[in-house]
Amino acid sequence: MTQEILISGRNLQRHYRRGSEIVRALDGVDIEVRRGESLCVVGQSGSGKTTLINLLSALDAPTAGELSICGRRVDGLPEAALTAVRRGLLGYVFQQFHLIPTLTVAENVALPLLLLGKKPDPAEINRVLESIGLAERARHLPRELSGGQMQRTAIGRALIVRPRVLIADEPTGNLDRATGEAIFGLFLQAVQRDGVALVLTTHNSSLAERCDRAVTLQDGRISGERRRAAA
Ligand SMILES: Nc1ncnc2c1ncn2[C@@H]1O[C@H](COP(=O)(O)OP(=O)(O)O)[C@@H](O)[C@H]1O
Ligand SMILES: [Mg+2]
Repeated sequence: MTQEILISGRNLQRHYRRGSEIVRALDGVDIEVRRGESLCVVGQSGSGKTTLINLLSALDAPTAGELSICGRRVDGLPEAALTAVRRGLLGYVFQQFHLIPTLTVAENVALPLLLLGKKPDPAEINRVLESIGLAERARHLPRELSGGQMQRTAIGRALIVRPRVLIADEPTGNLDRATGEAIFGLFLQAVQRDGVALVLTTHNSSLAERCDRAVTLQDGRISGERRRAAA
């Protein structure tokens, strides 16, 4: 069965200028992300993982190449249009959580709805809080949470808009191993239950092995791809 393609990148390039030198952080990457799949991007530090994730999540634009997100060509779009695509279709989780310190857990989760001009529905907020295991912490402030709970809140904030794709750059990088495992389980739960596609980077190979697919980057190119054997 062929699943709907949600993100498609062709010959993606992202070059940075460093002094007089051009750094080819991405140098011709072809990638597809399908509905309901989990895709992990691995590779050594500096191989281009964050650069790729930032393109796939419309946080940054390619220097060259074609990129479509949910059927829309996004290469060449101005910043404001990229932001609109990102807010409506994608949920992004940062390694450093990026919660608003003065807002409660429930308010942090509801924030993307306000940015979309939607009125938060308390039942919907509660559904998400339940799904991330934080219903009891709804009125707490971020500083009253553990690292794992902060990352759960960040995942709730990504899920509240019912994104087509959930994207995360090293989401367990700041967490101890057991907490990271639990957080990873939440991501997989979103794939299995909500049918979102998941794209993440990790340094943890045992987490990468649990994704449907893993692509390895080396010097800005894909050097390998592994598909998980059917169970
Ligand atoms: N803003 C930038 N300016 C210049 N070079 C950058 C910038 N961001 C990343 N790079 C370079 O691009 C390459 C890939 O970086 P990155 O995507 O962060 O890799 P990874 O996430 O795999 O560690 C590295 O050589 C890095 O130094
Ligand atoms: Mg990185």
